[in-house]
This record gives sequence, C-alpha cells and structure tokens, in this order.
Amino acid sequence: MKTILIVFHSQSGNTRKMAEEVARGASSIQGVKVVLKRALETEAQDLIDCDALLLGSPEYFGYMAGALKDLFDRTYESLRGHPRIFRKPYAVFISAGNDGEGALRSIERICLGYQFRKVQPPLISRGAIREEILARCRELGQTMAAGLNFGIF
Ligand SMILES: Cc1cc2nc3c(=O)[nH]c(=O)nc-3n(C[C@H](O)[C@H](O)[C@H](O)COP(=O)(O)O)c2cc1C
Repeated sequence: MKTILIVFHSQSGNTRKMAEEVARGASSIQGVKVVLKRALETEAQDLIDCDALLLGSPEYFGYMAGALKDLFDRTYESLRGHPRIFRKPYAVFISAGNDGEGALRSIERICLGYQFRKVQPPLISRGAIREEILARCRELGQTMAAGLNFGIF
C-alpha cells in the first residue's frame, strides 16, 4: 500500500483546515494510506517511509513557518542522497494573509536540495479560508493519491 504524508504547521488554524481537507481528498482513494502530521512531530523516518509528500505552511514574514524550516533543518543532512528521498513526488499548499509567494519560494528551493519532484502546482490561499479553497485542497489530495495509486507519479 502506498503512503501519502501530509506535513503542516498552523498557528491560527488556517493551514490546519487546508491540511485536513487535503487528507480528506487523499483518503477518498482506496489503497492509499494517509498520514497527517504536524511538522514539529515529523521525523526523518516519516519522510523516508512515505511515497509522496504534501507540505503545508502559512507564510510568516515572507517565508515558510519556522516549524517547517525546523523539519528541513533537522533532516536534510541525514537524508541527503537517500534512495527513498530522491525524486519523491511532492506538492505544496500555503495559507497567507495576502501573498504566499515568499513561503512557496522558500519551500520549493529547499525541496530542490532534497531532490524531491514537484508533481502538482502549488495551492495558495489568501485571506480567510474559503470553501472554494477547501474544495481545491480536497482535489489536490485526491489527485496526489490517485496519481500514486495508478503509478503515474
Ligand atoms: C508572525 C506572522 C507573520 C505573517 N507574515 C505574513 C506575510 O509575510 N505574508 C502574508 O501574506 N501573510 C502573513 N501572515 C498572515 C498568515 O500567513 C495568515 O494569517 C495565515 O493564514 C496563518 O496561517 P495559520 O492559521 O495556519 O497559522 C503572518 C502571520 C503571522 C502570525
């Protein structure tokens, strides 16, 4: 069975709502195990064990949340060149007040370092979380899970 790991940080709950909907969408595909974890509770082994990765972060000060950066800081050295990390499919979702591009750029840059492979366009929510965004989160989770299940990613 393939596993999707959804890693997120959230302070006021917006990114958490998005992560939960991504998880809901992914869970709608049979044969895929969905793991939803806070970045601060995620370890290198979780990144090794999953078959695809969804990274969710708020934008803080034009950058990703420190908690997500902390995950990268803690795991990069031990995972560099790991065969289970190389070209792992990933996608990003962001919650921002009015921008989100800085958070996205910072995540994508680090993902290049891990040699993860971006397989879906990023999803950025600006302002309060709207139902349309939640629907797109479900779609993102579903697409990732279906792509894994059918061996497309
Ligand atoms: C410390 C802090 C810094 C922020 N910096 C930015 C920013 O640079 N750009 C932006 O668009 N929004 C910024 N925001 C707004 C958050 O990105 C936005 O409220 C987001 O939805 C919070 O997600 P969360 O509820 O998952 O924590 C900031 C919020 C906080 C608390």
